[in-house]
Amino acid sequence: MRKLKEVQLAEDVISFNWDKKKVFNLKYTAHYGFVRSLCDKDLINSVKNFSLEEENFENFVQVGIGGSALPASAVLAFFKGSYFNYEGKKRYFALDNLDPERLKLIFSLDLDKTFFHVVSKSGKTSETLLQFFILLEKGKIKPENVAITTSRNSFLDSLGDKLGMERFYIPDEVGGRYSVFTTVGLLMLGFFGLDTQAFVEGGKNGVRAYRNGFPFPNEFVDFAIGNYNDGRNILVVFPYKDRLLRVGEWFRQLWAESLGKDGKGQTPALALGVTDQHSQLQLYQDGPKDKAFVFIDVPECCDFKANNDYGFGLFSGVSMAKLMDIEKEATKRALKSKSIPVSEIYIEKPNEFALGNLLVSLMIATAKAGEVLGVDPFNQPGVELSKRFAREALKDV
Ligand code: PA5
Repeated sequence: MRKLKEVQLAEDVISFNWDKKKVFNLKYTAHYGFVRSLCDKDLINSVKNFSLEEENFENFVQVGIGGSALPASAVLAFFKGSYFNYEGKKRYFALDNLDPERLKLIFSLDLDKTFFHVVSKSGKTSETLLQFFILLEKGKIKPENVAITTSRNSFLDSLGDKLGMERFYIPDEVGGRYSVFTTVGLLMLGFFGLDTQAFVEGGKNGVRAYRNGFPFPNEFVDFAIGNYNDGRNILVVFPYKDRLLRVGEWFRQLWAESLGKDGKGQTPALALGVTDQHSQLQLYQDGPKDKAFVFIDVPECCDFKANNDYGFGLFSGVSMAKLMDIEKEATKRALKSKSIPVSEIYIEKPNEFALGNLLVSLMIATAKAGEVLGVDPFNQPGVELSKRFAREALKDV
């Protein structure tokens, strides 16, 4: 009985619509490092015991890059919307580029009321370390305003120890882009008063449901990689609500960095509906037939309409959300009319539980896609190479 209920729940919160065509005979197994991290009680308890919600902080700054920043940014934007920095009392910033303009902004904040989460699994990523050192030196940030997430015994771990800073650890078997269920993603949830427990439960449920036959991850691979094998080298992810854009960025990294190896890989592209209907759609419709589409949508957070349409003649009773929906369906229809493969992920109830389900399902799909392509979805030798070259160049400065 219990098993059936779990499968039911996952299907309730995520639906995937596509022209069903089973391509690969994928098994419903998921023995991955990121799955094990979901059941790491010590890790989850350490987050619970480190609640920042009641503290007097106004800002949360994630100092990290790639998989050390995108999971937190994606989750927060999903729940709080894209404009929360303009609305709420608490603000979020990610130092995930080296542009000094961002750090300048951080220095304009009240640093005594700013919490810094410094994240680097390797503990030696130049972009992250240099910004951290500048914050220590110029910003004189206090040890009690800092937490570090890294690997045990890394350079950053030892430095944090010396400086008396709180430290958390990413399990060895969890890579950055798969780390949303570690402190990389979870610490920020607590700060903003979001339900960490429900998010983790959603993740666990996604795994259990999958093992019990919840088809979404396998269907996603059938759709994406099935089309890749038919020459669709580009997977366009097309979220329609602003709050989903960062989830799209997170997925873009996951799919690109996990699968782009040995001359293989499907290039993820990101478009925002309806904005990109007026920017990319011409190419999508009439350009090379090398793309497959994944629309992503959630119900609207709010809605507005104008009662007077000033004689325009089309808007009687039509709200913004309705028009957006009509445009999305029209775009899908237009693509399909040119025999372009289209699918849609729809998140019926956009809460912590549903997002946990969705993210774990997409991570399972990515791992499965790696199996199908015959590449290791968990390493990133190309990224490591560029890091090494940068370190070599630094020695000559
Ligand atoms: O997903 C990954 O593994 C990468 O994007 C890393 O997160 C990124 O390169 C940052 O590395 P680190 O966490 O070691 O600083």
